[in-house]
Amino acid sequence: MSQTLFKKERDPSILILDFGSQYSELIARRIRETNVFSLVVSNFISIEEIQKINPKALILSGGPNSVYESNAPKCDEKIFNLGIPVLGICYGMQLMVKELGGSVIQASKKAEYGRAPINIDLENDLLSKVRNKSIMWMSHGDSIDSLPEGFIKIAHTENTVHAAIANIKQKLFGVQFHPEVVHSECGMTVIKNFVLSIASCQRDWTTQAYLEETIPRIQEQVGNKKVLLALSGGVDSSTLAFLLNKSIGNKLTCMFIDQGFMRKGEPEFLMEFFDKKFNIKVEYIDARQRFIQKLKGVVDPEEKRKIIGVEFIRVFEEESSRLGPFQYLAQGTLYPDVIESAGTNVDPKTGERIAVKIKSHHNVGGLPKDLQFKLVEPLRKLFKDEVRQLGGALGLPDEIIKRHPFPGPGLAIRILGEVTDEKLNCLRDADWIVRDEIKKAGLYNDIWQAFAVLLPAKTVGVMGDKRTYAWPIVLRCVSSEDGMTADWSKIPFKILERISNRIVNEVVQVNRVVYDITSKPPGTIEWE
Ligand code: XMP
Repeated sequence: MSQTLFKKERDPSILILDFGSQYSELIARRIRETNVFSLVVSNFISIEEIQKINPKALILSGGPNSVYESNAPKCDEKIFNLGIPVLGICYGMQLMVKELGGSVIQASKKAEYGRAPINIDLENDLLSKVRNKSIMWMSHGDSIDSLPEGFIKIAHTENTVHAAIANIKQKLFGVQFHPEVVHSECGMTVIKNFVLSIASCQRDWTTQAYLEETIPRIQEQVGNKKVLLALSGGVDSSTLAFLLNKSIGNKLTCMFIDQGFMRKGEPEFLMEFFDKKFNIKVEYIDARQRFIQKLKGVVDPEEKRKIIGVEFIRVFEEESSRLGPFQYLAQGTLYPDVIESAGTNVDPKTGERIAVKIKSHHNVGGLPKDLQFKLVEPLRKLFKDEVRQLGGALGLPDEIIKRHPFPGPGLAIRILGEVTDEKLNCLRDADWIVRDEIKKAGLYNDIWQAFAVLLPAKTVGVMGDKRTYAWPIVLRCVSSEDGMTADWSKIPFKILERISNRIVNEVVQVNRVVYDITSKPPGTIEWE
């Protein structure tokens, strides 16, 4: 599968050199919240490449290493002489100090983790409007021992002498804390100070600007060719359908493969919404029998996922050749997919970490390499919240924009063990009640995911005068920022009670409801 890169892609105003921090992506998101475009690139990026991109400033991320380790990641030290502002965060600051002639101590005694009030020692642009003694989030073992020439200390904490440093003349800054995390009370102020006042970036990264740049690029890329999009009804593929419909109109065909594992009313809603209401061509593929047949007798979660994935590809291949030929395949790949699946692969031209394979999620993922499509991936530089904003600007209703994530294999991985039509119907009814009550309670938008899981074991109960012997339903509600970690939601007992009562009363095959109080880690959000 080949991939055509768009011409004239916007260059980032801020480049974040990644030294392996779990927060690099978050730094980029925070900067974009100020309407400034930023990208995460590998620490290996060459000086020539940086010059070609011509960013207004650089940020050196944190990282798990110690600067004195033999394999500690480095960057080209000439970056400090480019004449543009540089902000080092945690490891990034320590590296800057070491490279410029200062020293770092590997004193584990001085390690500082968690919240620490910051004491500002000197008024300066970076910490302007940061409240003295406000809480900043620390996470470091090493500390700065001596500063390079030209640097001064601008803030300290109880345990860290050099909590923030600056070379004012050369606009080089370092912070030992993490301004990007929400626990840093004035972290966003620090980021804004650096991006807007020190680096003088224009606040020109807006949904409107994105549309104005992207629509002509899509038109240019696609020309008169036909584009196929596998629509799942999630926010990414729905936004993409709207964007492509606006850009190329009827050169777009959406394909909705109904595997039979959707939630109650979902296939009908999708067809009604896209095809009828918005006149976006959607081919409904009824593959329900095929999928359930393939899953007969299969109980192992991984095997189930694999079978569903393979069958999805088969259906996709058959149907795309029946409806096609299509020259382009549109994918709702997002920026985190590009960064996360990139590993250590670096684009030698841009220095950007690149995905070695196309999105591995099930929806359109795992498609064989010999499928003769070129890719249209206009969302690949966007974060999820940016996609939501874009969807809203394109006219998608909240019902789609704010919907909870739903896994590609659908309800099949929420029925433990073998999937049958009977269990699917049962789970659909229970799941409907969960969503209905969570919405009525006004909790839907505060919760990352709320759903039901069906356990195939039967338990004894009593209803009226009769003994029952039926399935339990697990209620799973979690809060999360990105699905990577999650906490179980502290739903009021009254609402739990209502959900439980309704499920037991309205879903005949169920006589018990339990609530999952496991966070992730150690649990996962889904049960399979
Ligand atoms: P876990 O269960 O790994 O889930 O904690 C993390 C997030 O990913 C979603 N998920 C999937 N999404 N295809 C998807 O498109 C999948 O196969 C899949 N498995 C899990 C899950 O719903 C949660 O939001």
